[in-house]
Formats: sequence, C-alpha cells, structure tokens
Amino acid sequence: MNKPDIKYLFEPKNIAVIGASSRPGKIGYTIVENIVGEGFTGTVYPINPGGGEILGLTMIRDIELIEEDIDVAVISIPAAAVYDAVVKCARKHVKFLTIISSGFSEVGDLEEERRIVRLARENGMRILGPNIFGHYSARVSLNATFGPRNIRAGNVAIVTQSGALGIAMIGKTAVQNIGLSAIISVGNKGDIDEADLLEYLIKQDETKIILMYIEGIQQGERLVRVLKLATRVKPVVVIKSGRSKRGAVAAASHTGSLAGTDEIFDAVMRQCGVLRAESVQEALEWCRYLSATQLPSGLNTVIVTNGGGVGVMATDACEKYNVPLFSDHGRLQATFESVTPGFGSTKNPIDLTGQASGVEYRLALEKALADPDIHAVLALYCETSMMSADQLSDLIRSVYQEYKLKRKPVLFSIFGGVITEQTITDLNREAIPVYRDVYEAVSCLGAQFSYYRHQTANAVPETAIPINPGLINEIILAARKDNRQFLLADEGQAVLNEAGLVLPKSGIARSIHDAVTLADSLGYPVVMKVVSRDILHKSDVGGVLLDLENREEVLDGYQTIIHNCKAFRPNVLIEGIEIVEQIPPGMEVIIGGRRDRAFGPILMFGLGGIYVEVMKDVSFRALPLNRSQIRSMIKETRSYPLLLGVRGEARKDIDEIVEVMVKVGTILEACPDIADIEINPLMVFEQGQGVKPVDVRIMLTEN
Ligand code: ACO
Repeated sequence: MNKPDIKYLFEPKNIAVIGASSRPGKIGYTIVENIVGEGFTGTVYPINPGGGEILGLTMIRDIELIEEDIDVAVISIPAAAVYDAVVKCARKHVKFLTIISSGFSEVGDLEEERRIVRLARENGMRILGPNIFGHYSARVSLNATFGPRNIRAGNVAIVTQSGALGIAMIGKTAVQNIGLSAIISVGNKGDIDEADLLEYLIKQDETKIILMYIEGIQQGERLVRVLKLATRVKPVVVIKSGRSKRGAVAAASHTGSLAGTDEIFDAVMRQCGVLRAESVQEALEWCRYLSATQLPSGLNTVIVTNGGGVGVMATDACEKYNVPLFSDHGRLQATFESVTPGFGSTKNPIDLTGQASGVEYRLALEKALADPDIHAVLALYCETSMMSADQLSDLIRSVYQEYKLKRKPVLFSIFGGVITEQTITDLNREAIPVYRDVYEAVSCLGAQFSYYRHQTANAVPETAIPINPGLINEIILAARKDNRQFLLADEGQAVLNEAGLVLPKSGIARSIHDAVTLADSLGYPVVMKVVSRDILHKSDVGGVLLDLENREEVLDGYQTIIHNCKAFRPNVLIEGIEIVEQIPPGMEVIIGGRRDRAFGPILMFGLGGIYVEVMKDVSFRALPLNRSQIRSMIKETRSYPLLLGVRGEARKDIDEIVEVMVKVGTILEACPDIADIEINPLMVFEQGQGVKPVDVRIMLTEN
C-alpha cells in the first residue's frame, strides 16, 4: 500500500491522542497539555474510553467517532493494548502513528513490534517509535511530546534515538539559545528511521542544521544515500555513542539494534560529509555556530590576539581541527604592519600585544575584513585595563555585524574575570559566536571548514568495471553445494580472473613427485603453500615456504610443510600443496572488502602482509566509490609516505593500487553472496611497474 507523505507527520492539520488522561502528572495528560500549551495550529482530539474533559476539551471515547480524517495519532497506552488501538486507527485511515509506549523490541518483544508495524504498513500507515517521547515541529507549533514546554523555535532539527537525552537536549538547547525547527524521538525505529526523517528535513527551509544522536543503525546503505543528499544542502552533525568497545556492547543491548564497528561508522560518516562530534556539548556548539553563520569563501584563517600565549594555544588548536593559518608573510606584514607595535608580530598569529587599545584591536580586525585573501578570523582577547567591558562588547557586536555582511566568519574567544564572563553570556544570547576557550572556538571553525571542504570537493561519478557476475556465482554455488562458507585457492583465483586480476601461476601437487614436476614447469624460485580447509591462516602454522630455488629444496619443503601442519593439528586434512611462481619483492599492501551488517559493501585499504593485524593501519569507505575517493583512502593511512618513497626509495605504483581497489569493489558490489574478500598481500612495485596480487581469501555470507 502507498505510504503517506512524511510531511503529514510534521505539518498535520489535526492530531488525536489515544490515552489522553485528565489526571495531571500522567504522560497522557502532559502530551495534551503540551500540544495545547505550545499553541498547535490544528485540531486536537483527546481520546479516552471513559469520556470526560481535559483542559477544556471534551474527551472522545473512540477514535472512530471522529468525522475528520486524522493525520497523526499519538498512542500512549500500555503496550498490551497498542495493537487493538492500531486496528482502530487502520479502520480510520490515520496517516501517522507516534507510539510513545515502551515494552516492545527494547525489552525483547520484537514479535509484537513487528506485528504492529506489519498491520500499519498493510493499511498505509506509518509508525514513529515505539518507545519514544514524541515529536515537535515548529512549523505548526506542535509539541506532541511529554518533555518540556515553551520550546524555542529556530533552525536546528534534532533526530534522537535516546529518549532521555533527547528530552534533556530540549532543555539544554534552550539554555544555549539554540532554536529548534523540529525534534523527533525515533526510539526503536520499528518503521520510520533517520533516513525517512532526513528526506523531509532536507527540503524544509526552516531547518538549517540537522543534529542526530545515533546508537545503532539498521539500514545503513539507505542512510548513506540520504545523508549524501542531505549534506549537499545543509550541515549534518552526528553524535554516535558506542565508540568504545564497552560502549558498543551497552548500546547494542540498550536499543536491540546493531551498531556497526566504530571505525567503519566514522569513515562512512566522513565520506558522506557528516560532521561527527565527540560529545553532546561539542555537537550543540557546532549547531549554534553553524546555524548563525554562512560558509566562508575560502579557508585562509588569521588569528588576531592581544596575548602571545593564547595565540600559541589557538595555533595548536588550529592544527588539531585542521584549520589552515594564512601564511603569506609578505601579505600579512603589509596588511597588519601599521597596527602592530614593533615588539609584536605580524606573522600569524597577529600579536598586537597587551598594550593594544580598543582602537588598534578594531583596526586590526577591520584590516583582516578588508583583505580578500583572508577568509576567516579568530579574534582572541585577554582582559586588560586597555578596554572596558562595555567597549569590548560594543566592539565585538559591531565587528561581528560587519563580518556577517561580508560572509566572513569571525569567532571571538575572550578571557578574564566576572565582567568578561558576563559579556560572553550576554553576547551569546544575541547569537554572536564568543567563546570562553580557544579550543571551543576553533573546533566550531574546524567543523565549518570540514563542511566547506566537502561542499567544494569535485563530484566525480562512481567507478566500476564491467564484469560477468554469472561466472562468479557459479563458483559460489559449487562452494555452497560443498557446504563451504569460503572459496578454495583455485576458486578465489577464478573470481579474481573475472575482474582481470591474475594471481601468480600455480598448480596443486598431490604428491611429492607432482611437486617437483610442477616446480620445474613454473621455473624457479617457487613458493609452496598448504591447501587445507582446516587451515585459514597458512603462514601462522608454517604452511608457507618461500624462495625454493631448486628440486632439492622443493623435496625438503614438501616434507617440512606436511610436518608443520600435522604438528598444528595431527588429524588435519591436507588436500595438497600449492606450488606458486615466486613474485619479486615489493611493498606489501592489503585490499579488503566486506559486507558490513549496517552499511553494506565496504572497501578497505592498508599496509599489508603479516603485520596487518598489528599495525591496524587501514582506512575504510562504503561503496560505491570513484577513483579520487579511493585515492584519498590510500592517502589517509599512516604508511602513505612509504608509497611515495622515503629515504631515496622510488615512488610505488599507486595508480595500479587504485585499479585493483576498483576491481575488488566491483566484485563485492556485483556478488551479494561474498561476505569478505581480501587480497593480502598485493605486491606493489615501483611506479610504472604495476602490482601483483599474491593471495586472495574469499568468505561467503551465511545462507
Ligand atoms: N484508548 C484510549 N485510551 C485508553 C485506552 C485505549 N485503548 N486504553 C487505556 N486508555 C486510557 C486509560 O484509561 C488512561 O486514562 P485514565 O488516566 O483516564 O484512566 C490512559 O489511557 C493511560 O492508560 P494507563 O493504563 O493509565 O497507562 P499509563 O498512563 O500508566 O501508561 C504509558 C501508559 C505511558 C504509555 C506506559 O505504558 C509507558 O509505556 N510508559 C513509558 C513511556 C516511555 O518512557 N517511552 C519512551 C520515551 S523515551 C525516554 O526514555 C524518556
């Protein structure tokens, strides 16, 4: 059945509250009180089988007695009674149900939650929740929550998976002078999830920033698609709990949903241009700042200060938050020389020194404003006797307005006693970005720059190569028939061949005699590897030997491998010994792909070989990707300089690594049965000399 337009959830013409109670203090009372008290522009229908009155409204005994069509019904009755109420809503063709009631999947009753969602979907209704505190929409002054009242209307939309934190954020945003365009509690996300809500919030003009608190993600691939669209239009800030391993376990049991691993979540969010905050406080600061300022036209930043120490701290903060300091010293000198004393500095930070009066300080900020090559300014001020508090706040107010007109960000960070503290509070109330701490200021500018970089990055179409998944699927089917969840070496090789990747020439010897014949035909030196479904990590058990130069060494090697594997497990099944052409030495990298439970196909790059587990120098992205995004994945690793060549070494063939990654990505996207694919090592030679995949491991999904 057709789904109703999500706009009705945010802009309903009426709302019914099933479980409205005339007893103050009950959730069913508070919700009606909030809807009426906040001044909802539509009609409210309180529903209670006992009849009576609430806040001057007559209770209706049954939703089916209402004549009008209903856009939204809030359900606030015990879980056991919810299904029957949803049946009535279905008969009434209600569009959206917001189910406040707890007692579903979050306490293990997934079945009842699914039964309700199924019923709703079959009847063209959508469900927010269950287990939510409700939702607020400024456009129609709708506060259908049991949280606080008098929500300040504004430009930030909050989507939250945590109820208590969400309710607290209503209060916190009010304290921090952050206005809300909407706040939506998603709870168990039985039906509506973040992606559905984003689709509305992207288009809604009042919403300038979207803030999401996420614990777990169920349909990551769809969320990624919608987030990519959202960040083209407005900044999206995310707080995700479950960063630590302990936290991840707590989040999973709390919400009953799956949290993807944090590294992948982090990488995918960055890829989508989402700003991930470390804490709620940081996220709110970003929202406040971003909703009050426009994007700059570039990233050249200048620090103007009357104190050397805070200037140095701000410089450190700029490095931490990736805020580039303008470094054209000739230009800086020409701009600021006339306002800087001889013992000050015109190198960035511009240090006017403690003797700077209000006049010089303002002049310096005006000069920065006038210079078209300076795009943002951090104005630091330590309280001195050179400027009174009134002078300082007047100066900040007027400079901020001038910068705003020119679309140049200026962020103030001021330090001092009681009067300075009061100045900060007063100016913040006027939405002027003034901070107590330089790190707070720079963190906001860093978030804005990160968004700017994403906005200005070239949109290059995604990349794939033509392959025939039919052949790969035949190989997979054979493995399935054999009851295996992994592919054998020759099968893995055949899969790679399909994408034009050729492993070293090889054959499988079933006897010592075979081994010598094969090695002779391949040419020396050769590598020998055990073939066994009992052994996944061959080198760990001594199942791999390198540099075998002649027949004698192959004969010895055969016996050594058999001996090592039997020592690992006496009854190990050895299917044979693979004899492989030996590849000349190069730099070893790893190319991996896996099907993440939250985000779908993910590509991985890292420093490879046997050190991969120890170094953990890897980067991730969700597919699809283009070549430039793949290149930035490679650049992101700590070992990237090794590929560029250190200490006189030649640069490695990075272009060819990119091509292999495109191919691995294509295979993973085309074959949903592949859970994991890993080329390790991929031997990388000097630029122009190419790369060579040496080994591949392919795991299949559970079926
Ligand atoms: N249709 C209409 N009204 C009904 C129906 C029905 N089918 N069934 C019962 N009612 C009435 C009741 O008679 C009662 O009204 P009354 O006070 O006049 O008698 C009212 O609806 C509420 O029903 P109660 O049985 O009194 O339920 P109560 O209010 O105690 O609890 C609630 C209902 C709040 C939904 C509860 O079951 C619940 O789930 N609480 C948790 C809510 C929550 O925390 N959600 C997550 C938020 S996020 C966070 O963590 C902050």
